[in-house]
Amino acid sequence: MNMNEPLEPPAKKPMMTVFERDMVCETHGARIERGISLFGGADRVIWHGCGQCNTDHRDREEEAERVTEEQRKQERIESRIKASGIPAAFRDRCFTNYLAESADQRRAAGVAHEFAKTFSRSHLPEGSMLVFGGNPGTGKSHLALAILQHVMKRHTGMYLDAMSLIRRVRATWRRDADETEEEVVRTLGETIDLLVIDEIGVQRGTEDEQTILFDVLNRRYREKRPTILLTNLDGPGLKEFLGPRIMDRIFERADIVPFKWESYRRKKR
Ligand SMILES: Nc1ncnc2c1ncn2[C@@H]1O[C@H](COP(=O)(O)OP(=O)(O)O)[C@@H](O)[C@H]1O
Ligand SMILES: [Mg+2]
Ligand SMILES: [Zn+2]
Repeated sequence: MNMNEPLEPPAKKPMMTVFERDMVCETHGARIERGISLFGGADRVIWHGCGQCNTDHRDREEEAERVTEEQRKQERIESRIKASGIPAAFRDRCFTNYLAESADQRRAAGVAHEFAKTFSRSHLPEGSMLVFGGNPGTGKSHLALAILQHVMKRHTGMYLDAMSLIRRVRATWRRDADETEEEVVRTLGETIDLLVIDEIGVQRGTEDEQTILFDVLNRRYREKRPTILLTNLDGPGLKEFLGPRIMDRIFERADIVPFKWESYRRKKR
């Protein structure tokens, strides 16, 4: 085989010529129609039809594509929220229906709002933590869910109470479990962008339970994954519950927000 010869002969460049003629479009009236002929002959012209009709058609197709893309995006958010563990009854918790009356409440709402708004650019890369501590009914879950649902427009998130988290890890200890402990701890500790752990300390933790919580929290600390902890324990109580080692790490990176006003439920009654 002669290596100097090209494998394929160079394609002959067609001599494309543009033609124009008068036409009347049913929609746009008298117009000039364009056409092309690949080899220049006036007898072989491919006419394009009304230019405006073609543009309109393309615009409609682009618009339809945009709508489909927007629908897909909404579906992605919707399926993310479904997988997030947020109970259906809590989906309406947002910033606009959180009422802040006292200065302390406004500060709590402000911290929460700032966390949600700057999540992508600062809290996600920094692996920030938030701790909401205070009595039941003071709106800790409400604000945490408002943050989570805002963040989940762009990122993955999960809402769990401490007991469910522990149960999920424990379930992997069964012989017929379909996930390993390592897989679950990795998902909770590393994969999910924002993890909210509610009801920490509601039940007295056994050593096993503390170890599981420690494992997940320590991983999130190490991997710089943002985490929100909700508890009705005070500082020393939380330290005793989770152990001093992890508390020091949490304190190092957390904004601690006290919720120390009256229960919203009781006030409403
Ligand atoms: N400041 C608030 N504005 C509007 N609703 C609130 C407020 N605080 C609490 N709630 C509502 O009161 C109920 C209890 O609040 P929740 O967030 O569950 O409290 P916590 O988690 O602190 O126990 C929820 O229905 C919540 O939406
Ligand atoms: Mg709560
Ligand atoms: Zn037309």
